[in-house]
Amino acid sequence: MSLVLSIANQKGGVGKTTTAINLASSLSYLGKKVLLIDLDYQANATTCMGINRGSFKASVFDCLTEEASLPEAILHTDSPNIDVLPARTVVEGIEEKIILNTNRDFILHTQLQAVRKNYDYVLIDCPPSLGFVTINAMVASDGIIIPVQCEFLAMDGLTQLLNTIRVVQSKKKVNMETLTIFGVLLTMLDTRSNSGFQVVNEVKTYFGEKVFQTIIPRNVSCSNATFYGVPVTEFSPKSKSSLGYRLLAKEVITRHDEA
Ligand SMILES: Nc1ncnc2c1ncn2[C@@H]1O[C@H](COP(=O)(O)OP(=O)(O)O)[C@@H](O)[C@H]1O
Ligand SMILES: [Mg+2]
Repeated sequence: MSLVLSIANQKGGVGKTTTAINLASSLSYLGKKVLLIDLDYQANATTCMGINRGSFKASVFDCLTEEASLPEAILHTDSPNIDVLPARTVVEGIEEKIILNTNRDFILHTQLQAVRKNYDYVLIDCPPSLGFVTINAMVASDGIIIPVQCEFLAMDGLTQLLNTIRVVQSKKKVNMETLTIFGVLLTMLDTRSNSGFQVVNEVKTYFGEKVFQTIIPRNVSCSNATFYGVPVTEFSPKSKSSLGYRLLAKEVITRHDEA
């Protein structure tokens, strides 16, 4: 059975996109077939998967306005195991169009049914907000991965995120479906400072077993990879952050198999 996971946290810069592209890449190395959905207007995941923003006709936002279907918009990448549903940066009038749709929270969920069987994992890179785009991602998902940056005020805003997850859980319950917190991922840990480890403890106390054992260290190769627009697992395969994401992929597969 395929597993649909949203990578969500309304805070910007916590490592959502980095996690989405590197988890996609690492799962593909383990032989898993992955669909990466870029739901962020900034289209960073699209660019990092080597897709030129001018090279495609339909984006995920055309699917949300029902002007395109997922099979039309999905692109193949250089990696035979990864497909991408790309995002576009300028999306005018999309909110007005979607607001009129009486089934607006379920658009992505409905469209995904036609293709999810083609993949082992569908990963959704969410925007830094809790608006209807993120709601669409969560409704379409079986689980959420919450990246938490190991920095001051890491837990800030998590209550709001958890409240939104609860709202979506009740929406899905009507259809006899569930949404779990699949895992909380600690990102960008500076292993030289105590404060980072304090955040690790704080998050583990709050989320317990939900926290992935793998912690992604802060590592310059990771930001350099973003600069060159590639996953760090390809840019610098032996770097600490790349190894972290490879371990995370194994942990994700184990959690999925045990569920
Ligand atoms: N482990 C890491 N080490 C160093 N820099 C990182 C790491 N993870 C992410 N970054 C950098 O942090 C910035 C924000 O990450 P990003 O994944 O874009 O966050 P979000 O999608 O949540 O806004 C990017 O410039 C990225 O390169
Ligand atoms: Mg992002």
